[in-house]
Amino acid sequence: MIGSEKTKQFKILSFETSCDDTSVAIINSDFNVLVNLVSSQTTHEDFGGVVPELASRLHLKNIMQLTQAALTKAELSFEDIDAIAVSVNPGLIGALLVGVSFAKSLAYSLGKPIISVNHMLGHIYANRIENPHLLPPYLALVVSGGHTELVYFKSMHNFEIIGRTRDDAAGEAFDKVAKLLELGYPGGPLIDMIARKGDSKFHIFPRALNKKDNFDFSFSGFKTSVRNYLASKSEEFIKEHIADIAASIQQAIVDSLVSKTIAYAIKSKAETIIVAGGVSANSLLRKEISKKGNAIGAKVFFPALEYCMDNAAMIGAAAIEKYQKGEFADLSLNAFSTKGIRII
Ligand code: KG4
Ligand code: ZN
Repeated sequence: MIGSEKTKQFKILSFETSCDDTSVAIINSDFNVLVNLVSSQTTHEDFGGVVPELASRLHLKNIMQLTQAALTKAELSFEDIDAIAVSVNPGLIGALLVGVSFAKSLAYSLGKPIISVNHMLGHIYANRIENPHLLPPYLALVVSGGHTELVYFKSMHNFEIIGRTRDDAAGEAFDKVAKLLELGYPGGPLIDMIARKGDSKFHIFPRALNKKDNFDFSFSGFKTSVRNYLASKSEEFIKEHIADIAASIQQAIVDSLVSKTIAYAIKSKAETIIVAGGVSANSLLRKEISKKGNAIGAKVFFPALEYCMDNAAMIGAAAIEKYQKGEFADLSLNAFSTKGIRII
């Protein structure tokens, strides 16, 4: 058993509703995911981005049904659950409130403890689903649609933010340039797929803030440069070279992320690097950071692909340690939208 030998086996029912995925999972104290259901709201595709009001309404519509389906799939009932976990920030406030209100109602009516989880910490703890023994100290690169942060963890509660984006997040940069290329939403997975057949040296887009000892990120200049580049080319040229352009775009974003992470890993003599958040699914990022991390003697971890994007299993995974330490919230628990990694 992982964690304290004294703690008996337990099961956590967890909820994730911070953006456009309604997700319900059940995980046990050995990090076995018994069920992880994700209902992705495709309605937003028509708008080219997430519409907050619609997201809240769809979470409300889906959450009860998804909870029942999760229990049925895991062949469990509410009585078998030992605690309820829910992501409380960051995210769209209305969307988060649906998960938090639902989780609090369940906890109250079932008489079970409730555990609050920071969504970004959930992304980081997604790594423990495949590697339960993975504990700090480690350097974490957290890259999602709304966040890009380089964080050095000494323990779950003791961490330092080394760098963060000054403008767009890495996932947001992928999504925005994919929109310029008229590829659809979300753009990250689409660029990743198209880039596989392209030449990443076809065009060199800028890598920002590349001075030594600057661990912040910036993607707005890069985005402008993609826009200007596309405006200078004909539709036929773009169509003909779409794979090369996608590969060059992906290389620029990945280079920024990898170079700063490796530079700080060298500086801090980090022995372990972990990558987390939706962009950690990116095939080039996984390849390059592994190669460069291993070259400096660091071990590199990512979540399994199915746990990279928003899901409730990662919220349950972060709640395990809090359950073991007795870190429970009370029914005054509220959602809030403040950005970044924090311990609640
Ligand atoms: O963590 P996540 O599911 O949601 C947020 O918390 O934001 O991350 C979503 C982001 C989107 O911007 C999406 O384009 C990006 O992750 N993403 C990727 C890939 N898969 C998802 N970006 C690059 N390559 C991918 N394979
Ligand atoms: Zn996320």
